[in-house]
Amino acid sequence: MKIKAALIREKSGRFDIAEVELGELRDDEVLVRVVGVGVCHTDLVCRDQLYPVHFPAVFGHEGSGVVERVGSRVTKVVPGDHVVMTFRSCGRCPACKRGDPTHCANIFGSNFAGVRADGSCTIHHHGEPVFANFFNQSSFAAYALSHEANTVKVSKDAPLDYLGPLGCGIQTGAGAVLNTLKPSAGSSIAVFGCGSVGLAAVMAAKVVGCTTIVAVDPQESRRALASELGATHVVDPAEGGSVERIQAIGGSGVDFSLECTGIPAVLRQAVDCLTVPGVCGLIGAAPLGTEVSLDMNSIMFGRTVLGIIEGQSVPDLFIPTLVELHRQGLLPIEKIITFYPLDQIDQAVRDSECGRVVKAVLRP
Ligand SMILES: NC(=O)c1ccc[n+]([C@@H]2O[C@H](COP(=O)([O-])OP(=O)(O)OC[C@H]3O[C@@H](n4cnc5c(N)ncnc54)[C@H](O)[C@@H]3O)[C@@H](O)[C@H]2O)c1
Ligand SMILES: [Zn+2]
Ligand SMILES: [Zn+2]
Repeated sequence: MKIKAALIREKSGRFDIAEVELGELRDDEVLVRVVGVGVCHTDLVCRDQLYPVHFPAVFGHEGSGVVERVGSRVTKVVPGDHVVMTFRSCGRCPACKRGDPTHCANIFGSNFAGVRADGSCTIHHHGEPVFANFFNQSSFAAYALSHEANTVKVSKDAPLDYLGPLGCGIQTGAGAVLNTLKPSAGSSIAVFGCGSVGLAAVMAAKVVGCTTIVAVDPQESRRALASELGATHVVDPAEGGSVERIQAIGGSGVDFSLECTGIPAVLRQAVDCLTVPGVCGLIGAAPLGTEVSLDMNSIMFGRTVLGIIEGQSVPDLFIPTLVELHRQGLLPIEKIITFYPLDQIDQAVRDSECGRVVKAVLRP
């Protein structure tokens, strides 16, 4: 079918709204009419080719929508269901068999290959193949072909157009706290970077009863939002001495920290501000090959650096949990979301990049 999609034609280029050809639905796929799709920093990482993608491309991996049609072998959803599309795991590797999809051995290829596992292409433009199937959805479009495995059914009572970011950014930040770090009530955490990922972590830290939540971000508006969402302290890194200031707030340092910027120097600070023992979760995506220097002795005495993908979530369980937390008012994602029509994707991206909005959600 012919659909409207936001096409990127070259590295760091503008989005071009074009009519493209969406391929035939396979037996194990779901055709979703996209209702909302968040712009995630990872879309821009790929636009800028920091990960190996090629062009033209259709990104978008935080889609929510309504199921229009399902393939003959799909049992999870039926037409009319409300769904969130999330990351794909292979379902076959040891980690997937253990029920641990974010450690899937094939997670990179499953989400960033640009084609299905069999090499086929889901989107063509003027007969030419497009780098698509991004996170098995390419949802910067009016419709998406999603694999059954990464399609999560959600309650029809929830506001569907807000839910797309639960598939990546919100799941990533909230899951890092709720699924990975699991701080006990009364513990302390510092969150570096208050984009949607970091702010979701702040909200989750409040949910589990962290009594010291330090939010670090150079943007005043984001620090203010972090305070509104549960941060007990804010730090402006531009003032210098972030590590010492956080150590002072936490007594001897904080129990947990999260690196949500992708900047090596920030990872160093996130490790250095920990108490002993302390755990730093690494979430921010840096260009492939990026290295960081750490003080070996500081680690040896009992600090841990832990990489966390997609909040170590089992999406079929965790996304409905996030929807319920939202329903109960504990995850007020509407405070960080700004809507744009799909046609205004360039504006949405500009506003995200300059920090004017936290989470832009496009409504095709
Ligand atoms: N690991 C995963 O599974 C996963 C999933 C989603 C996103 N990500 C990555 O997580 C990161 C955060 O995503 P996002 O959508 O929230 O991005 P974002 O760009 O909206 O947020 C980053 C924030 O970091 C702040 N910042 C910049 N310099 C800083 C500094 N020196 N100290 C503290 N804060 C600083 C910025 O002001 C901004 O608010 C990105 O790198 C993204 O690619 C990783
Ligand atoms: Zn796997
Ligand atoms: Zn993402």
